[in-house]
Amino acid sequence: MMKFKNDSALFDHYVDRLPSDQNAVDAVPGWTTAFPPKFKVKAGHAAFYNDPRIHWCIKQFGSLKERRVLELGPLEGSHTAMLAAAGASVDAIEANRLAFLRCLVAKEILGLLSCRFHLGNFVAWLEQTEVAYDLVVASGVLYHMRDPVRLLELMALRGSAVFLWTHYVTDEAMPPGDPRRGVFEPQVHIKPFQGLDMCRLTSVEVAHEEVGHPNGPAFCLFARRVPGPTGQ
Ligand SMILES: C[S@@+](CC[C@H](N)C(=O)[O-])C[C@H]1O[C@@H](n2cnc3c(N)ncnc32)[C@H](O)[C@@H]1O
Repeated sequence: MMKFKNDSALFDHYVDRLPSDQNAVDAVPGWTTAFPPKFKVKAGHAAFYNDPRIHWCIKQFGSLKERRVLELGPLEGSHTAMLAAAGASVDAIEANRLAFLRCLVAKEILGLLSCRFHLGNFVAWLEQTEVAYDLVVASGVLYHMRDPVRLLELMALRGSAVFLWTHYVTDEAMPPGDPRRGVFEPQVHIKPFQGLDMCRLTSVEVAHEEVGHPNGPAFCLFARRVPGPTGQ
């Protein structure tokens, strides 16, 4: 047998068991989400592979067959898999290295052939892409943004339809003194915004409003571009 310098360090990274999906999951720590039971792997607990918010998004959009979807912040690919199962090809942009690697593991286990995961910042992607997406999905990301208004503008620019799930702050839904306000910046910045109809995303539906969500009030929004007189 050939001997290498630092043999033990090299072999620390080897998995000497029967190859399995569980080995792949265990190769990257920190799982939040679960796999559908039929895959028989232990990862995280959140069953986002059957998320009613994404079912609602798909229902609003209609058939995703052969549609191009941009997903912002896929985390571990559960929603990506739902969009792919509905027929979409998906670009999913994830900034967190470990989350990105977990997405790749999920892609392999779930066989997400129509999805590409990309490591980096989705704002930069939205600014530079020349792809006209049929749908942009932004679940759980707007409230992380330093400039959420810019993200809304970019989503409206690049997508013919947009889906959001987001927390929000209003004094009615989360009055001053509500402990859930602690994670939000106390300073309010007011920024002029011409509204989603600026990009003709005028057909707006709201659902899954949850004022009592433990992390702060939340809701889903789906908006679609209504074609102008030239059909664009
Ligand atoms: C709260 S999680 C939401 C995950 C998933 N979309 C969901 O709804 O369950 C936010 C995800 O977005 C990613 N993220 C946040 N800001 C990002 C950015 N600027 N570019 C790419 N990914 C980002 C985080 O790493 C994380 O995976």
